[in-house]
Amino acid sequence: MSLLAPIASRYPQLVNTNDDCFNPKASVAFPATARGAEGDHPYIRPSPQIDSRAPCPGLNTLANHGYIPRSGRNIPFVLLVRAIMEVYNVSLALALMLTIPGFLLYAQFRLNWKSIGPSGAWSVPVLSYTLTLSALASFGPGLKIAHRASLVHPDYPSEKPEMSMVHGLLSADSSLTGSDEERGYFTLHDLASLRVSRESSPSDKLDTIHEQVALGESSLTWLIFAKHVSATGSPGIPLSYLEQWFGDERIPDWWTRPTETIGLIQARKLAQQVQEEMELIRKGKNIRE
Ligand code: HEM
Repeated sequence: MSLLAPIASRYPQLVNTNDDCFNPKASVAFPATARGAEGDHPYIRPSPQIDSRAPCPGLNTLANHGYIPRSGRNIPFVLLVRAIMEVYNVSLALALMLTIPGFLLYAQFRLNWKSIGPSGAWSVPVLSYTLTLSALASFGPGLKIAHRASLVHPDYPSEKPEMSMVHGLLSADSSLTGSDEERGYFTLHDLASLRVSRESSPSDKLDTIHEQVALGESSLTWLIFAKHVSATGSPGIPLSYLEQWFGDERIPDWWTRPTETIGLIQARKLAQQVQEEMELIRKGKNIRE
């Protein structure tokens, strides 16, 4: 029996190595991301009382599918970088660019106890530097990533999407005309219009850093989910993807991760494109992509 069992029972958060992500096999066997092939990573809705979540659909989805600890707690840096790269097919440089600021701002040193010896008779302390998702929900003062002009999160620290905002987002393509199939997609113009409307009230005006953060989030959303729409001949994001990813924070049915790795420069260029589209919308030029 572990000599540190009394500490473990008193402070379970210090010794939580039972989460399925600490099983090294859990995130190695990466399946195709279409729902039928969830494999080792089924979606499990988080329990608000138990699980920790962020205002980030990207990270919450990883936790809801068990690519990172489902508890949303004590996430190691390397595990998160690897999960982001594997699930969303982003490059190492982009994954590091997303993860390093998050860790520098919100991660904590923790003392974990690791069982060693025959049948885990002994426990040794192991220092780790890990992230807990709910930390990301905090707003300033100081440099924080969360801002007041999110697409589906309210103007106050929140760990889950606001469903009325998700529904608003899904109806934001009202400018679309044409067949039902055409209506079922979100264009880059729709995304830019939504950003303009979220930043339109003076209280939601973003500073330069958060403007870039928000553009980066839109750029990633587009690059990960947009696909060619045969009805229109141009790219779009199926509304069903947005509904499931933003609303349920799950890997959407029938979505497959981008076939080509999304790089830093590509993400930056797309963010710039969204920004230019936003400028045109603000100037009243209703240009479509
Ligand atoms: C490929 C990986 C990722 C994707 C696709 C992604 C995507 C997104 C999106 C679309 C939003 C906006 C949600 C909204 O507007 O309501 C968001 C928000 C956020 N993300 Fe991520 N994210 C990723 C990785 C990360 C990482 C690694 C961190 C930090 C460790 C992070 C931290 C945040 C935070 C703090 C917010 C809240 C910002 C706000 O107030 O809107 N994300 N993310």
